[in-house]
Amino acid sequence: MSGLFITFEGGDGSGKSTQAQLLSTWLTDAGHTVVRSREPGGTELGLELREMVLHRRGHIAPRAEALIYAADRAQNIATKVRPAVERGEIVIQDRYLDSSVAYQGAGRVLDADEVRGISLWAAEEFMPDLTILLDLDETIGRERLDEARTKYDRLEAEERDFHARVRASYLDLAAAEPARFLLLNATDSIESIAAAVRARVATLLSSL
Ligand code: ADP
Ligand code: TYD
Repeated sequence: MSGLFITFEGGDGSGKSTQAQLLSTWLTDAGHTVVRSREPGGTELGLELREMVLHRRGHIAPRAEALIYAADRAQNIATKVRPAVERGEIVIQDRYLDSSVAYQGAGRVLDADEVRGISLWAAEEFMPDLTILLDLDETIGRERLDEARTKYDRLEAEERDFHARVRASYLDLAAAEPARFLLLNATDSIESIAAAVRARVATLLSSL
């Protein structure tokens, strides 16, 4: 029996963790076994890599950054996500390889196909059944973060253009793979976004 792998994507402050938590509660209440993960930092090794890539002082070369995210991904998929899906469980995860294509590809301006290739190698081609993209104007995302915290990590601290490129790249990714992506407007209310997510996941579950 195979479970499901569902990922949430979008800019910083787009509501990924809010929606991942709501979906997780809904599925758990319906009797499913849910595993939550995130990248970077879904595993013990991943937590060390997360600290390094988000908070280390000093310059990290773009290719080094891409490889740290890929290492985190390799550990997360091999030791946590794939085993859970193979046990028939539902994995709900904040961010996955689309984040690397958008942030390291469009943001850092590395070649998108190469970044994707490194991620696919790291994850042994393991792809999500569904990816929910919460699309948000980068200025609004920044305002939400400003309200929620006082310190920014290395990626959040990038300039507005960087985040505009990330957003455009996400929209391209969703357009290229419409069957995998559910594209939602992140400025809709938390409850209406959650309802749209539930409707799509219910369809997916009924097709299993
Ligand atoms: P992410 O995980 O994508 O960074 P969060 O779920 O942490 O985003 O949400 C960032 C902030 O925006 C939080 O303060 C959260 O309460 C708020 N938020 C989340 N979803 C919405 C929404 N649909 N409308 C308005 N504010 C939201
Ligand atoms: P995250 O903890 O999801 O931050 P937030 O809750 O603010 O969205 O992710 C940390 C940062 O890492 C985020 O700015 C995006 C970045 N990131 C990449 O640049 N590449 C990647 O492959 C991943 C997974 C994340």
